[in-house]
Amino acid sequence: MSRDKVTTTQVLACKGRQRVGMLTAYDHPTARLLDEAGVPVLLVGDSLGMVVLGFPDTTHVTMAHMVHHVQAVARARPAALVGADLPFGSYDTPARAVAHSRELLAAGADFVKAEGGREILPQIQAILADEIPFCGHLGMLPQHVLEEGGKYRIKGRDDAGRLRLLEDAAALETAGAFACVLELVTPPVARELTAVCRRMVTIGIGSGPDCDGQVLVTPDLVGGFPWFTPRFVTPRAQTGEAIRTAVRSWLDAL
Ligand code: KIV
Repeated sequence: MSRDKVTTTQVLACKGRQRVGMLTAYDHPTARLLDEAGVPVLLVGDSLGMVVLGFPDTTHVTMAHMVHHVQAVARARPAALVGADLPFGSYDTPARAVAHSRELLAAGADFVKAEGGREILPQIQAILADEIPFCGHLGMLPQHVLEEGGKYRIKGRDDAGRLRLLEDAAALETAGAFACVLELVTPPVARELTAVCRRMVTIGIGSGPDCDGQVLVTPDLVGGFPWFTPRFVTPRAQTGEAIRTAVRSWLDAL
């Protein structure tokens, strides 16, 4: 059964009422399957660099990669709201942030996401001034993993970290972000951020159960990248192993 297109207003209205599910999609069939399963928000995340393109981290993802994959997802014409990550280096000035956000919208995205808080506030304000819906991303910022010595570290462990997250979230909410991903934030701080942000939904990943919604990298959820699974994910299918088994059985039958 076809659904009406999900809007950012509907996602915001879920606050305090209904959990929001967001999953990554990088290609047409996955977008169709997730949409048919009723996922309200699809994210063409720059995690595609690691789980699809074979790079060691997300800093290798370019605008050309993002546009290519957003177009593939958009061709599924999903009812789900489609988000796209602004890749590393594409939003270093307000003008570039707006130009690249427009490119992602032209490719078929409904909103854009970028990593960071007050340090990228001018870029976020410029994107929103251009009437492009925006989702923030606070906590562990994978595009900064090299600055963190290659480690994906938990955020909000001490008072200074907690305060930084609270002030960054307040800045994003005041600017008009409708949602914010909280990645690897300690569960108590994620709960506090979720409670204090009244006009922005929090979407957690590895940040405990008390966010307004949850996001996962779909291959992690379905065992599609079986060589690595984050500690906080329990896969609900083993598609990688199913592929190996199907292929071995086909080879044996040749
Ligand atoms: O790139 C991505 O897939 C993401 C999600 C993990 C939130 O940013």
